[in-house]
This record gives sequence, structure tokens and C-alpha cells, in this order.
Amino acid sequence: MRVFVTGATGFIGTAVVQELIDAGHQVLGLARSDAGAKSLIAAGAQVHRGSLEDLDSLRSGAAAADGVIHTAFIHDFSNYGPAAEADRRAIDALGGALAGSDRPLIITSGTLLAQRKGPLATEEDAPNPNFPRKSEEAAIALAAHRIRASVLRLPPSVHGNGDHGFVPHLISIAREKGVSAYLGDGLNRWPAVHRLDAAHLYRLVLEKGTAGASYHGVSDEGIPTREIAAAIGRGLDVPVVRKSREEAADHFGWIGHFFGIDGPASSAQTRERLGWRPVQPGLIADLNAEHYFEHVAEAAVSRG
Ligand SMILES: NC(=O)c1ccc[n+]([C@@H]2O[C@H](COP(=O)([O-])OP(=O)(O)OC[C@H]3O[C@@H](n4cnc5c(N)ncnc54)[C@H](OP(=O)(O)O)[C@@H]3O)[C@@H](O)[C@H]2O)c1
Repeated sequence: MRVFVTGATGFIGTAVVQELIDAGHQVLGLARSDAGAKSLIAAGAQVHRGSLEDLDSLRSGAAAADGVIHTAFIHDFSNYGPAAEADRRAIDALGGALAGSDRPLIITSGTLLAQRKGPLATEEDAPNPNFPRKSEEAAIALAAHRIRASVLRLPPSVHGNGDHGFVPHLISIAREKGVSAYLGDGLNRWPAVHRLDAAHLYRLVLEKGTAGASYHGVSDEGIPTREIAAAIGRGLDVPVVRKSREEAADHFGWIGHFFGIDGPASSAQTRERLGWRPVQPGLIADLNAEHYFEHVAEAAVSRG
């Protein structure tokens, strides 16, 4: 299959590109810079120049492909509304180019965006209507127009070498403050997945996904945030401390809200329907590996 991948130069997108090429697919990767284009060529992909703001570039990329995987997102948490709106417009444009063809379109969402009804968020749970990111609603609307649009929900930590998401942000806060904190009793849970397992799931959804279905890329169903804070404390060699929920914003800034969420999630239906089996290390094992704290070791070496 010839697959148009947006976000092909990102942390998850690069793993998706590799996964697709290794499985014999051709990749047309969206690049908005020369550096991005160069990295795609080096990975064995073809380059499609454009951006999320240039909807015609998205339409022409999708029109030239047998399927689309959409992972690009403007990660500006201080300006989240416009980023979410750009994502919705991009999904509409991609879907418009695929209409009536039954070609697959996989969009990316988050397990924390699901309205959890039971002990674990499941693939059946609807997206939370109060959240500004409307990727899922846009994809579900497309599924009604003979587009094989599916949703892949990722947990708040997609981890692995090169991670620059929430967990590295927590690490930098702990380094700056000299303590690694959790909120309240720290028993609220975060699910997680390794980026290579996530990339494998994107391919399975591309090949076997059902229109309108949601899939969960969840390996660790729910790690108490206290354990994440403890692993960060070990990695940085700083004390692990409790902060009250009232101190969340002051200590953590914008990420305090997310780190306080109890968001355990299941991937049982995804595993059953697609035969997906995550094989990579879990988040705590990954945090115990060196790459999350290499710069700490490097700084210690340079300090002599
Ligand atoms: N990483 C996680 O832990 C995590 C967790 C849950 C959900 N997700 C979701 O998973 C998806 C991929 O995340 P990621 O971690 O791979 O993100 P990332 O490393 O920040 O990569 C973002 C990708 O989007 C591209 N992009 C950003 N703004 C763009 C624009 N205006 N036009 C065109 N391309 C643009 C970037 O291109 P450049 O290379 O040119 O910057 C890059 O390829 C996102 O939807 C994200 O919200 C990630």
C-alpha cells in the first residue's frame, strides 16, 4: 500500500514510517522543512512537501495514496484551541480527498480524552465532549461518508528513545526543582505504551481496521503516578516528595492538570480484534534505562 503519513518526521511518526517500510509498504511522508524532507529520504520514504495549514497539500497527499495515517499535531499547549482546530480542519481535508473510496484514514487521539465509564477506559467509551481536541468526532463523521476512518488513542506516555513528551517534561521540572513530585496520594494512574509497539498498532489498524472504530495503543494499563515520580527521582538522584493538589499548578505548571488525572485504560478489545501484542519494555523499565537521563550523566561528566 502507498501510505501518506502526516507527522512523519515526529517521535511517533518516524517509528510508523519505519514500521510501514519494514512491512513492505511505500510511504509518502509530509515534510514542512528541508531537514524533515532529508530525514524522510534517508528513512526510505518519498517526500510530500506541505503543512497542516496548507490544506491543499494535505488533500493532494491523501489523493496520491491508498491510505492515510495522521499523526501530525501542533503541540502548543499554551495555544491549544487553535492547534485543535487546525487538527480538525486537517482531518476534514484528508477525509475529503478519500471520500467514497473506502481507503483507510487513521487519526490519532488520546486515552485521556475518552469518557471513562468503568474501571478502565475502553475502546467503546465516547470522546469527552468538553475537551477542545475534536480529532475523534471529525473522524467518526467521516466514517459516515464511506471513508474507512478509524481512531487510534494513545496514552499520555508514549515512551522510548527520543521521547520529548510529558515524561521528559516531568523530568525537567524535577531537575529544575530538585525534587520529583507526585500529587496527593500519587495513586492516580497513567497508561503508557512504547513508541515501537504504537507504530506496530498503526500498521495493524491501517491493514485491518474497521470504519468508525476506536483502538487503544495501551501496554501499561495504569501506572500509579507515584511510581513514575519514584523512577524519575532514581534517575536524577533527587528526593521524591508529595505535593497537595492545591500545589499542582505552582509546582508543575500546565502539566499539573494532566499529572493529576486518574486515567487507566484497557486495550483488550484492540488486542482481540487486531491481534496486537505489545512486546517492548513498559514505562518504568524504560525509565530505568539510561536514555531518559543520559544528559544527567553527561552533565556530571562535564562537571568532572
Ligand atoms: N508522544 C506522546 O507521548 C503522545 C501521547 C498521546 C498522544 N500523542 C499524539 O500522537 C501524535 C504524534 O505525537 P508525537 O509525539 O510524534 O509528536 P511530535 O514528535 O511533536 O511530532 C509532531 C509531528 O507533527 C508535525 N507538525 C507539527 N506542526 C505541523 C504543521 N503545522 N504542519 C505540518 N506538520 C506539523 C511535526 O513536523 P516537524 O518535524 O516539521 O516539526 C512532526 O512531524 C500527536 O497527535 C500527539 O498529540 C502523543
